[in-house]
Order: sequence, then structure tokens, then C-alpha cells
Amino acid sequence: MFPPGFAWGASTSAYQIEGGWQADGKGPSIWDTFSHEKGKVFEDQNGDVACNSYELWEKDLECIQQLGLTHYRLSFSWARLLPDGTTRTINQKGVQYYNRVIDDLLACNVSPMVTLYHYDLPQALEDLGGWKSPGIATLFDSYAKFCFQTFGDRVKLWITINEPLVCATLGYEDGIHAPGLEERGIAAYLVGHNMLRAHAMAWHSYDSDYRATQKGAVSLALNSDWLEPLNPDCIEDVAATERDLIFTLGWFAWPVFVTGDYPEMMRAAIEHRSKKLGYIGPPRLPSFSKDDPTILGTADFFALNYYTSQKVKAGGDDEQTLCMKSDQDAEELIDPSWPICGVSWLAVVPYGLRKLLKYIKDTFNDPTVYITENGFSQMGPLQLEDVQRCEFFNSTILEVAKAIQEDGVKVRGYFVWSLMDNFEWSFGFSVRFGLFNVDFSDAKLSRTIYQLGQEYAKIISEHRNSGQTQ
Ligand code: NOJ
Repeated sequence: MFPPGFAWGASTSAYQIEGGWQADGKGPSIWDTFSHEKGKVFEDQNGDVACNSYELWEKDLECIQQLGLTHYRLSFSWARLLPDGTTRTINQKGVQYYNRVIDDLLACNVSPMVTLYHYDLPQALEDLGGWKSPGIATLFDSYAKFCFQTFGDRVKLWITINEPLVCATLGYEDGIHAPGLEERGIAAYLVGHNMLRAHAMAWHSYDSDYRATQKGAVSLALNSDWLEPLNPDCIEDVAATERDLIFTLGWFAWPVFVTGDYPEMMRAAIEHRSKKLGYIGPPRLPSFSKDDPTILGTADFFALNYYTSQKVKAGGDDEQTLCMKSDQDAEELIDPSWPICGVSWLAVVPYGLRKLLKYIKDTFNDPTVYITENGFSQMGPLQLEDVQRCEFFNSTILEVAKAIQEDGVKVRGYFVWSLMDNFEWSFGFSVRFGLFNVDFSDAKLSRTIYQLGQEYAKIISEHRNSGQTQ
């Protein structure tokens, strides 16, 4: 059912699990700043301690072993390694921490996949302009090179940036993620642009200086919902769906996998609206210049984060001010027949993943794909016997199998979000995505497996035992 060597993994990210926000010389990140401000996160919670994985790593490792994972995806905290974001100061304690994690994983026969940037920019770099400033690309590249140099003898799967779409839109358009800006219709495009430049520089550095010796692979993790027209017979809805996919997945995947530049349709729609509103100023969607690194071809595989699907209706937000939603001219809706799982945005649509995988195969030149995140959440009273999440999970795995077998998509791995309950950004600890529950009211932060975790362990062992995985 799954090809040999298929990666069965789980994912986490530094700010969401580590805690130790000031431990051993770590510098602050924009999420430390943001979550310490009143009113930004559910009940003003923060990641100061979170799952305390900085001190309790061996507990996480026990969870990983109990599941029988072949891979574990974690992220490095940039400010833990480089407190002011630059390689001028290296925090050896941070290096030691990640060395230990990587070495322990390998000793247990688990391959690490490391994300270099998962939303937590060093505050020192934010103070210099952060992702809005073009110079960030060079600083990210230096950080990436430092990581390849220090850890790349053992880490073979790298993700440069996690979900640039989410960083750009939630952080700079809607202001609900750090750094909390609402510079509508402008900043998100700029941030996305600098993220692509930063990613491409790091990929080129790996390609020219490390690939030959380290023999790893580098990509960026793109999130996308599956989208389909509300009324398939309405040409406006069909066109809006196409536009919406272009404005979300296409924004980043087109330059990297297809042309080296943004989709023409996206640029045209943005320019059209700028004109309509009489906007004067530099084009809101920036252009790549001859001094920028080549963007095309800077991914060795396609890393996809998938959670949900939406129906799309033409029209939507038609504010007479600049805003990305209006540029897009599409309204997204949840089909009432789709079950909601925990958070309100998470309608479970397993077939949507299969369709999205097929779309990726057809649109982005049949890449090798790792599903670097997929998950199901719960809210409210704790349910360790989470039968419904198990059902959602099983039907999703079945759709992945169909994508591989029937549609020929080259899916090489599947990572559940998340190994354990953690700090779910603006939802704080109120939303639980874990394969393990973490008791945040207990000083020991004890981890207890959910039925979902047991189910996943069973699936992994069946596939390992059938001799179909290495
Ligand atoms: C995607 C993000 O990468 C992760 O940080 C987040 O917790 C999950 N989605 C769930 O919302």
C-alpha cells in the first residue's frame, strides 16, 4: 500500500513545545514578545514553558519510540542558536540541545526532519525590520548555512520556512500572529517575497556547498486547503476557485516549481485592484530582480501541510480599501455536511487531501511529496478515547493510499501534527492536536497517549511488519 522507505512521522515546532524561553542564553523571539502582550492569545497564555521540551526531551523521545515513528519533524529556534539572529554570537547551549535531540533520535533509528523557521523570528531581527526588510534574506541564509554546517552531517531532510502563507497573512495582514501587524494589502506580499528570496538563498547554499558531502534534501513547507467551487456549474465560482488556489498555494509554489515568478493571474488581479482604488506607490506584489537568487527549482521535494477543504464562491470581501481578500475576489465557505474537528476552521475532508495531491502532481511537475503536517484537534473536555479523531485519521490515510496507488502521486511520507498537545498559537493550549496528551496543570507536564496515538502506532507497525517499509 505504501512504498518502501515510506516515512511515518510526527511534527512539532520549537516555540510550541520547548519552553525555556530565556534558558541558557536564548534570545527572545517575536512570539515571546507577542504572547506577552495582553489580549493576543487565548487567556493571555504563552509558550514560556509550553511542554518544556527543552528540559523534558527524553520524555518526548519516549513518546516517539512508543509510536514507532520512522521520522520526527522538529524545528530549531533561531534565537536559541543565534540569540541576536546573527552568527556573530553562537549559543553553545542551544547547539548542545539540538545535538542531543538529533543524536538521540538517530540512536533510536528515527530520522530527523528539521525546519529552520517556524514562525519565531529573533526579536533582534524584527527590530531591524524583520521579514519586511530585504536584508533578512542574507541573515536567514547565514543562519541556514550555520545549521547545515553544524548539524547537516546527521540531518538529511530540511525545511527552510514553514507556511510562508500563514506567516505573511496572519502576521502582517490580519495581525493575529506575531508580529501582529495589519498592513493590509501590502506587507504580506512583501514578507512573502522576502521569504521566497531567503528560502532560495538557503537552498542554493546547500546545493553548492553541502549537498555533495551531506547528500540531503531541502524544501519549504507549503500549506493549502483543497478548494472546490460552491456551484460547479457557475463559471464565476469555478474561476474564483482557480484564482483562490493561485493566491494561496500558487503564490509560493509557482515561483519554486513552475516559472521562477509569481502566477501571472495573481499579478494581474493585484494590479487591477490597485488601479481601481487609485493606489499610487510601488507595485504591491514585488518583482524578483537580477540580483535575487534564482527561485525556480529550489525544492528537492514538495512539502505539504494539509488540514481542511473549502467551497469557493465568487465575490466576497469588496472593501474599498487595500486588502488581500479583495485582490483575490473569492469567498471561502465550509460545506455544512463536513464534520468540524475541534477548532472551527477544521472541517475534516479526507478526499480533499487526495484531490490536492493529484492537483500538485499535475500542476507542479509530479514532485516527490512529503505530507509534512496533517492533523485533527479537540477542544473542551479532554477525551483520551478519541474515537472520532481515529476515524478521521483512518479515512485520511486511506485517501493518501489511493493518491499513491490510483493516482500515481509520489507521496514518500506522512507526518501527523502533532506529537503532543502544545501551544496552538492564538488559541493557546485550548486546542489539542496531540498524539499524546500533555497535562498542563501538572508540574511534571506528564504525557499520556490518546487512542489516536495507539491507532497510529498500530498502522506504523503493520506497515513496518509487512516489510514494505525499510
Ligand atoms: C500549521 C502550523 O505549522 C502549526 O504550527 C500549527 O500548530 C498547525 N498548523 C495547526 O494549526
